[in-house]
Amino acid sequence: MAAITLKDINKRYGDGFHAVKDVSLDIADGEFVILVGPSGCGKSTLLRMIVGLEDITSGELRIGDQRVNEKAPRDRNLSMVFQNYALYPHLTVYENIAFPLRLAKTPDKEIDERVRRASDLLELNEHLERKPANLSGGQRQRVAMGRAIVREAQAFLFDEPLSNLDAKLRGQMRTEISRLQKRLGITTVYVTHDQVEAMTLGDRVVVLRRGVIQQVATPRELYENPVNLFVAGFIGSPPMNFISATVTGDSLHTPFGEWKLPSSRTVDLSGHEVVLLGARPEAFEDASVVSDTVREHGVVFDATIDVIEWLGNEQYAYVPYEAPEDIRAQLAELERELDSEALRTQLVVALDASSRIPEGTPASIWLDLRRVHVFDPESGENLTVSALAQRGEAEPNQPAATGDGRRPAPGPGTTDQPATASGSATESGEAPATS
Ligand SMILES: Nc1ncnc2c1ncn2[C@@H]1O[C@H](COP(=O)(O)OP(=O)(O)OP(=O)(O)O)[C@@H](O)[C@H]1O
Ligand SMILES: [Mg+2]
Repeated sequence: MAAITLKDINKRYGDGFHAVKDVSLDIADGEFVILVGPSGCGKSTLLRMIVGLEDITSGELRIGDQRVNEKAPRDRNLSMVFQNYALYPHLTVYENIAFPLRLAKTPDKEIDERVRRASDLLELNEHLERKPANLSGGQRQRVAMGRAIVREAQAFLFDEPLSNLDAKLRGQMRTEISRLQKRLGITTVYVTHDQVEAMTLGDRVVVLRRGVIQQVATPRELYENPVNLFVAGFIGSPPMNFISATVTGDSLHTPFGEWKLPSSRTVDLSGHEVVLLGARPEAFEDASVVSDTVREHGVVFDATIDVIEWLGNEQYAYVPYEAPEDIRAQLAELERELDSEALRTQLVVALDASSRIPEGTPASIWLDLRRVHVFDPESGENLTVSALAQRGEAEPNQPAATGDGRRPAPGPGTTDQPATASGSATESGEAPATS
């Protein structure tokens, strides 16, 4: 097991495409890190550079205390599990797991011990003599992991290992991988574009956009304090609502009335004529079920709900509204890029299951202003998070890894980190794709 350190890593493909841009990341020994982002953002490229299947154009990659840029994949001693598990169909489960050890000419007795230990752990004992073709998707997945485990590699690297499975099995395997990783305590880098996996599996999540790191943080921090519009729109389902507002002094004129943010959310609005306000669906509520003491922390406004989706434990209400043309165009652009659910100019509001607002009628909706974010519509920067970071109330964006494995915590030595990864929160800072 070992720490993995990436320093200013770049990848330019043969055709000039700049797929990974100045990526720096410290992955602690034993840490579980997720790489997430829309299709084509460079996740697989980054992973393949770590394993050694792809050359690093510039920058330094260290595993443990060694520079490994020039090392062949087999000398890096990492284990990679791909989306298609690449099992050998003519070999039994036992021999599939034993394969890397046979290659390394490991003595039979030791092979047997290691294979059996892995199969115990993965609950594959009763399948050892079977062939991969006769196994379920989840069992095949476990065989692939068994092969990774017996090698006693320094780290596990996963590239969308669950994307071929159906939803139920995905859920099971997700829990399985999480449990196994905790038990083995092995450094793991896991690529996915499934944000449920990203949020549930990782100690920290790295959000990539067009080859540039946007934010590195714990799942909770990403959800509560996304550094820019991109991260805010990418993490969370249904996505965060974005509402345009014109600024006069410290008043925000929105399509739903005039709002003033509480002191805990104050940002410097001078120099901004228009901002985008962000509020997650659960920041809203049916005003009639909010108690008086809570109500004073937010605003109540009238809105017409056109559709309600009742899910049993909660319900989502949809409120269409008019937004200025430029804001609408910008949201449409973001939506295309996020390759995700609609960020259209409608509010998606989570209501308590007990709420009885009927569809198609005007209703009183409450919004918790303590949970509102203010974004600069041009750069996309989350002004609330910058303000919180300046006041020392938010985690720095990339807490330096602690030496002792799990869950790095912000502390001495990490406070000098900027709130956003090297200017990447602003679109203008991005280099063109080819140059
Ligand atoms: N061999 C190559 N030559 C040129 N460009 C490439 C090559 N391989 C990948 N790319 C480009 O690099 C970018 C990143 O590709 P990568 O496979 O890392 O994306 P990804 O984030 O893994 O996407 P997905 O979620 O679709 O798997 C893409 O725009 C892709 O077109
Ligand atoms: Mg990929």
